[in-house]
Amino acid sequence: MDLSDSSPCFVSLLLLFLCLVHARSSANGETCHESDLEALEGFSSCLKTPIDGWGGGGGSQTSDCCSWTGVTCDNSTSGSRRVVALDLGGRNLGGEICDAVTALESLRFLNLSLNSLSTRAPWKLFQMHNLEVLDLGYNFIGGHLPCPINLPSIRSLNISFNNFFGPIAMSLTTLCSNSFNLRALNLAKNYFYGDIRADFGKCTSLEQLSLRQNLLSGDLPGSLFQLLNLGELQLQMNSFSGELSEEISKLLNIEIIDVSYNSFSGEIPDIFEGLSRLKHFSLGSNAFSGLLPASLVNSPSISLLDVSNNTLYGPIDINCSAMLSLRYLDLSFNNFQGLIPESLLTCRELIILDLGYNDFTSELPSSFKSLQSLRGLSLSGTSLTNLSSALQTLQHCKNLESLFLSMSFRDEEILVNASFQFYSLKGFAASNSRLKGSLPSWLSCSCQNLQVLDLSGNRLSGRIPDWISEFPSLYYLDLSNNSFTGEVPERLTELRGLRDLPSVSTPFFVMRQRAKSLRMKALREIVPPTLDLSNNWLRGPIWPAFGNLTELKVLRLKNNKFSGYIPESLSGLRNLDTLDLSCNSLSGRVPESFDRLGFMLSFNVSHNKLYGKIPEEGLFPIYPYSSFEGNNGLCGLYLEPCGLTSTLQELFQGMKNLRLPFEVSAVSGFLITTGICFLFGWMFKKAVQMRTVAGRRTHIRQE
Ligand SMILES: *[C@@H]1O[C@H](CO)[C@@H](O)[C@H](O)[C@H]1NC(C)=O
Ligand SMILES: *[C@@H]1O[C@H](CO)[C@@H](O)[C@H](O)[C@H]1NC(C)=O
Ligand SMILES: *[C@@H]1O[C@H](CO)[C@@H](O)[C@H](O)[C@H]1NC(C)=O
Ligand SMILES: *[C@@H]1O[C@H](CO)[C@@H](O)[C@H](O)[C@H]1NC(C)=O
Ligand SMILES: *[C@@H]1O[C@H](CO)[C@@H](O)[C@H](O)[C@H]1NC(C)=O
Ligand SMILES: *[C@@H]1O[C@H](CO)[C@@H](O)[C@H](O)[C@H]1NC(C)=O
Ligand SMILES: *[C@@H]1O[C@H](CO)[C@@H](O)[C@H](O)[C@H]1NC(C)=O
Ligand SMILES: *[C@@H]1O[C@H](CO)[C@@H](O)[C@H](O)[C@H]1NC(C)=O
Ligand SMILES: *[C@@H]1O[C@H](CO)[C@@H](O)[C@H](O)[C@H]1NC(C)=O
Ligand SMILES: *[C@@H]1O[C@H](CO)[C@@H](O)[C@H](O)[C@H]1NC(C)=O
Repeated sequence: MDLSDSSPCFVSLLLLFLCLVHARSSANGETCHESDLEALEGFSSCLKTPIDGWGGGGGSQTSDCCSWTGVTCDNSTSGSRRVVALDLGGRNLGGEICDAVTALESLRFLNLSLNSLSTRAPWKLFQMHNLEVLDLGYNFIGGHLPCPINLPSIRSLNISFNNFFGPIAMSLTTLCSNSFNLRALNLAKNYFYGDIRADFGKCTSLEQLSLRQNLLSGDLPGSLFQLLNLGELQLQMNSFSGELSEEISKLLNIEIIDVSYNSFSGEIPDIFEGLSRLKHFSLGSNAFSGLLPASLVNSPSISLLDVSNNTLYGPIDINCSAMLSLRYLDLSFNNFQGLIPESLLTCRELIILDLGYNDFTSELPSSFKSLQSLRGLSLSGTSLTNLSSALQTLQHCKNLESLFLSMSFRDEEILVNASFQFYSLKGFAASNSRLKGSLPSWLSCSCQNLQVLDLSGNRLSGRIPDWISEFPSLYYLDLSNNSFTGEVPERLTELRGLRDLPSVSTPFFVMRQRAKSLRMKALREIVPPTLDLSNNWLRGPIWPAFGNLTELKVLRLKNNKFSGYIPESLSGLRNLDTLDLSCNSLSGRVPESFDRLGFMLSFNVSHNKLYGKIPEEGLFPIYPYSSFEGNNGLCGLYLEPCGLTSTLQELFQGMKNLRLPFEVSAVSGFLITTGICFLFGWMFKKAVQMRTVAGRRTHIRQE
């Protein structure tokens, strides 16, 4: 609140006042400072579009910049008011931040985050003496971080999610040596590289430090561990290396440590006893080896522990009597061995438990029943056996929403007639396990909340049952790479979840392995609405009513024995981005209306019996040759031009496909071939076009 002109004498104050009254003819005399007005006008002129509610050069009413959107002035009643805050976060601003804004001498708060500002930030922005909060997050601002940085009043500096690049060690050192009040420093998601051997020592107030998602490397400097007030340390997704220093034990106030997705190695230091506030400890996807240290598996404060994707080994001796806060435990992708210890199952509050991709043997202990809070469990990629006993046990976990059993229980029988009850289940995967049997009917009886079902890569056989269409929310069905036979039930086209997407609410743990790298993305992007029946022995037509599954993004029917026409109605699948019908016995044409499928990035009809002209509009010109190969009669685009031969072939094929008796089509074939010469002129003008309507009916239209 202190004014920059500290104590102006009465006379000059009076003069200034009169001057302002005169100049601005303002009603109350409290308008914004002349130079601030100029600075804001300068700032505005560098933007692509004017800011709503900003006057700029207009009538006298709008020249009081203190009343402009996002502008706050000080409370001075004597003389002109200074702009102290500019809050324009999330206002769709484009253009650049130009020097003018740095002339706002009294500015303490500047928020331009969540806009589309680009090019560089002015060097002087990092030299503003009164600035306490600077938030440029989520823009497209590039350039180096200036060196030195001189922001003596800064409390919060956020330039995350931009295009800054270059080394930062020196800039950080100067920032720290000038800014004793800095509490939050967020440089996440830029392109900073090099090491961070900076002197953090003087940033004694620092509470939050995020350097995540950059290209930083090297080891962590000792001065980092002098930050006694640090509560949050986010270093994930860089290339930091070296051992995790025991000095981390000095960070007595630390609550969150995330060093995942780096190249740290060595053993995890046994220093957690003193870190009594640590809640969230994430060191997944590094090269840590050795055992879980005793102080870690006895920490009473940790609620999230992620050590996945390292080379840790030994027994998992999580001490549940000590780890009273534990909710999320991820031990996946390590070398833990042996039995799953019964003691682990006394962690009654566990919500997520990922034990996948370790070498656990034997059966699942029946005491898993006691995990009544459990919502997500992965036992994928283990050497566990006895699937039916595992399911028998797990059905007692009443809150289980996601269950992943892929690549485990190899070669076992999936109990078809059992009566398991999984009322909360939303996601179930048991893929690539060579399981035998047919689609288990207990799924239909109990799993009415199922949204995601993946049973691909097994040896399941028999028909795809009608009841599969009755799940009210199923929107992801993968039965590929099995031995299913018969026709696809037409009722599958009634799947409600693919007509109206359900609100997808499995909050964490749908396909965790894939989700990890994409944590920020919407669940639907990770698990897109899908119907995958490829690599089976299915036959019969592709039902036209598939065209009603309008939410479908991925449709794969490849490598079956489907026959008949490609239904025109599929062009109603407006969200489709992948369509693979390759390696079937489909005949007829590629419906011309497919050029409307504007999102279809991947299209494959190779190795069928298709003929006629390939549509040339839409995305068709970008599909490669291998999308169409293996069909003798296709022409157009960069295949053979559609000449007379293909027209005739089309006609001939068309007659064959009218399902006329053999003799009739043979005779007509003969007539056509021999009559070429005579019909030439006539044919040329009146090319006959085959069209399919509703799959089975055809009619000939002369043009
Ligand atoms: C102005 O005064 C009001 C009321 O005293 C106070 O709430 C506000 O924070 C002050 N604004 C500034 C920018 O100093
Ligand atoms: C800046 O504005 C955005 C959007 O309103 C908001 O999310 C963010 O928290 C603000 N930053 C600060 C430091 O207040
Ligand atoms: C930038 O970081 C600060 C401090 O952590 C935070 O208050 C602010 O909300 C962040 N801004 C955005 C847009 O997330
Ligand atoms: C494991 O870590 C490696 C590199 O550290 C990474 O490439 C890989 O994607 C990670 N795997 C999983 C399943 O997270
Ligand atoms: C497990 O924790 C309890 C309670 O803190 C403690 O008494 C016990 O000694 C611990 N057991 C082991 C094996 O560390
Ligand atoms: C699986 O477990 C059940 C009891 O839980 C048992 O009756 C059955 O024999 C086991 N099967 C195999 C193949 O070990
Ligand atoms: C399941 O039950 C059906 C009808 O009750 C029966 O026909 C079938 O053989 C049983 N399957 C198995 C594997 O027991
Ligand atoms: C199908 O599953 C088998 C066994 O799990 C696997 O070996 C094979 O690679 C899979 N094939 C495809 C095309 O996914
Ligand atoms: C689409 O569904 C409606 C009923 O919802 C049905 O009347 C129509 O025949 C279906 N469309 C196709 C092409 O089968
Ligand atoms: C189309 O499918 C065939 C057979 O499955 C495959 O060989 C080819 O690479 C695929 N082409 C494209 C573009 O997906």
